[in-house]
Amino acid sequence: MKIISEPQELKAYLKEQNKTIGYVPTMGALHEGHIELIKNARKENELVVVSIFVNPTQFLKGEDLDKYPRRDEADKKICELAGVDVIFFPTKENIYFEDEVKIEAPEVRGYVLEGATRPGHFSGVLRIVMKLLNIVNPTRAYFGKKDAQQLNLIQLMVRHYYMDVEIVPINTVREADGLARSSRNIYLTSEQRKEALKISASLYAASKMISKKEFDVQTIKEEMLKILEPLEIGYVEIVNREFKPINDVEVGNTIILVEAVAGTTRLLDNIWL
Ligand code: PAJ
Repeated sequence: MKIISEPQELKAYLKEQNKTIGYVPTMGALHEGHIELIKNARKENELVVVSIFVNPTQFLKGEDLDKYPRRDEADKKICELAGVDVIFFPTKENIYFEDEVKIEAPEVRGYVLEGATRPGHFSGVLRIVMKLLNIVNPTRAYFGKKDAQQLNLIQLMVRHYYMDVEIVPINTVREADGLARSSRNIYLTSEQRKEALKISASLYAASKMISKKEFDVQTIKEEMLKILEPLEIGYVEIVNREFKPINDVEVGNTIILVEAVAGTTRLLDNIWL
């Protein structure tokens, strides 16, 4: 397994290989969710590249940039075992420029839901993902449906900027009890973790209501809010696959999203129906 941290060096190395490339961008502290992305990349491509970079431009002031878990050595082992060919470890200094040309998240879709709680977050995500995709130039890039809005905005960026990469969405990996895997789960005390289970429980309850033909968004949301109590709620929203609000669930074109805070940790989860 090769480890490269210079963008130009990685670009030149990959170009020389002349192979199909599956790419998994991450911020490290790798868990089963990331591994699932890597496994899919491994199956479908000749070369697998993983990047590990805690991207400062997507953290707002006061967020957890400094305490975000960093586990470089463990991550290298996980990548090695998962059959990764190259790990890319850029640094803030070698990937960002002074007074840089910036890409911005769209005015509406980039500032609802997660973008409303974290204004500017998605501009930072798109900025780094655009750079990373241009450096790696992968055949396919793998993203989790767990970050549904991020995935949607990246798909839009690829379309709007005529980028030549296939974006592959991957289902959310959960713990046995339903909690969606996340690098931030390690912040949770056992008490908070128990509370956090209400998030997936509310989504399961919604999906059960829908299977019994309850399609009214307002009714479903009310039931979910009851289950989520007393968690602090960022949002509970039901949207179509274009992230537009809807009044009635349409199976095949709906996403239900929850953001809630357990202790001081913001947790995201969603289901696609
Ligand atoms: P990070 O949170 O490390 O996630 C990297 C990728 O793993 C994302 O595509 C995310 O959706 C996916 N992922 C996380 N948890 C998952 C789970 N439980 N099941 C399946 N996939 C999961 O998302 C980022 O990093 C950053 O914003 C990044 C795209 C790397 C840009 O900095």
